[in-house]
Amino acid sequence: MQRLDKILSDAGVASRKQLKAMIRAGRVYADGVCVTDEAAKFDEVSVQLTVDGACVSKYRKVLLMMHKPAGLVTSTDDPRQRTVMELVPEEFRKLNVAPVGRLDKDTEGLLLLTNDGDLAHRIISPKHGVWKTYYAEHEGTASQEDVQMFEQGLTLSDGTKCLSAKLQPQGSGKSLILVQEGKYHQVRRMMASRNMTVSYLKRIAEGALTLGDLPKGEVMETDIVETERLITQML
Ligand code: URA
Repeated sequence: MQRLDKILSDAGVASRKQLKAMIRAGRVYADGVCVTDEAAKFDEVSVQLTVDGACVSKYRKVLLMMHKPAGLVTSTDDPRQRTVMELVPEEFRKLNVAPVGRLDKDTEGLLLLTNDGDLAHRIISPKHGVWKTYYAEHEGTASQEDVQMFEQGLTLSDGTKCLSAKLQPQGSGKSLILVQEGKYHQVRRMMASRNMTVSYLKRIAEGALTLGDLPKGEVMETDIVETERLITQML
C-alpha cells in the first residue's frame, strides 16, 4: 500500500507539492471515487487512477532485451515450468513487463520485454512487417528450391499458410531464416515441411536490432526510441 501522492509522483504526473493541491481540489479519482486526502493509501498495483478524467499509467515505460537461454518458457507465469521472468530483475518485474511475442522453450536468443502495449503490438503485428532473423542448425542442406518455396509462402502440414519468408543457406545443415510473423513453432515447422528438422534455433535479430554482446541469460534495459528505430528499420 502506498500514499496516493507517492503513487502519482512515481508515475511522473506532477511534483508532490503540486499533487497535494490537485488532490485537494478534487481532480483525482481512485477506483471511480474522488479522493481529496493525499495521504490516503492504495494498492499501487491494482488501483485505477484518473486525473482530470484521464487515466494515469502508473508505470514508467521500459523496453528490455533478453538473451534467452533454452529451457525457459516465454510466459509471465506458469504453474509447472520455469519462465523467462526469473531472469528479469525485480525492479522491472514491478513495472509489469511482459514478453513481446514468444520464443519456444528450446529456442535461444533475442527476446524483448516491455510494459508498453502499443509498442509490443507494433513489433509483433505482421502488418508492421518487422523481420525476425533466426539461425538454425538442421538436417540436410537448404537448396535453391527450398529458397524459392520460402519466398512463395509455404503451406504447413496442417494447412497453415505462411507469408513469404527468406531462407539463406549457410552451408551444410545451417541456415538463416527471416520471417515477418510469429506463428506457433513457425520456423521449426517451416523447415520440417522441407524435410530439414531443426536441432538448434536461435533468434539473432529483430529488424536491425541484434543481441550484440549481451551474454546468455542476461537482461538489459534499452532506450525505447532508439531501439524501436532499429527494430522497424527496413532490412
Ligand atoms: N519459430 C520457432 O519455431 N520457434 C521459435 O521459438 C520462434 C520461431
